[in-house]
Amino acid sequence: MEIKKVGVLGCGLMGSGIAQVAAMAGFDVTVLEVEQKFLDKGFAGIDKSLAKFAERPPEKGGITAEQKDQIRSRLKGTTNKQDLADCDIVIEAIIENVEDKKKMYASLDGIVKKDAIFASNTSSISITELLTSTKRPERFVGLHFFNPVPLMKLVEVVRTIATTSEVYDAAFEFGKNLGKVPVRTSDKTGFIVNRLLVPYLLDSIRAYEEGVGSIDDIDNAMKLGCGYPMGPFTLLDFVGLDTTYYITHVMYDEFKERRFASPPLLKRLVMAGWYGRKTGKGFYDYKDPNKPVPNKL
Ligand code: CAA
Repeated sequence: MEIKKVGVLGCGLMGSGIAQVAAMAGFDVTVLEVEQKFLDKGFAGIDKSLAKFAERPPEKGGITAEQKDQIRSRLKGTTNKQDLADCDIVIEAIIENVEDKKKMYASLDGIVKKDAIFASNTSSISITELLTSTKRPERFVGLHFFNPVPLMKLVEVVRTIATTSEVYDAAFEFGKNLGKVPVRTSDKTGFIVNRLLVPYLLDSIRAYEEGVGSIDDIDNAMKLGCGYPMGPFTLLDFVGLDTTYYITHVMYDEFKERRFASPPLLKRLVMAGWYGRKTGKGFYDYKDPNKPVPNKL
């Protein structure tokens, strides 16, 4: 199976990042959105990111102005599903809602060529549940990327009991060809990273609730004591508290274990609309985005 043309569903943070990475790796990419304004927003983010790559020297992954234009010319946006008909792989990165995702796949199943692979970037929804919405269960995988997609090296390649070896190997190879490091995992909620990361993040909130340390002391402790690039509260605000809260529900529902259950403080913050960086408030206040100040919670 040769993958040449890539379709991406959704041009939000993850979709635009996946599209950018695919175009940087030399693939022709078509991104589908419901409205042009969402494409414009996503592509503006891609332009910003490419501009950063263009500022770097080649030995640090930098690109030339000419390469930047070539990458940009490989990227197309559309609001018409028919434009995905000849894609070899379609990667879904729309809202984390089972029904919306299933509806999207069902509507594309008759449009996209029969031997194309369908992939989902979901972080917690079962790939097996998603594949039931199509007539190509054996051609379905998870491709889970990490934020910020252009910088994070990992992609989890998720196999279901229905995925054929040919399709799985092609998806794994595709992950490599994107310049990522693919890891093999099976369709168990949370896959590898969130299975381990989510309990750690939730435990950090519990530690704070129990008075073990302040927000910035816990962050500094994990950054400086373990060499993590971000402390847990900075990372929670970066990932989005609404996203994390949603993931806890899916994981708790699956495993019924306390380590996946949302601590009360996370729920309160989400109810108040404090989702982290994207809303300007979460565990930190981002009035000055370069100097976040811990909130008194
Ligand atoms: N595109 C291109 N370049 C970018 C960029 C982007 N989107 N964002 C930042 N950069 C560049 C910066 O310009 C900077 O370049 P120079 O070195 O040339 O100056 C470089 O990348 C480093 O950026 P910063 O100095 O701003 O910050 P940093 O060194 O702290 O690195 C980071 C940023 C890579 C995000 C790092 O903090 C990190 O790895 N954080 C952890 C992120 C993480 O854990 N992500 C996974 C979240 S979980 C998830 O996504 C899965 C899920 O299902 C919830």
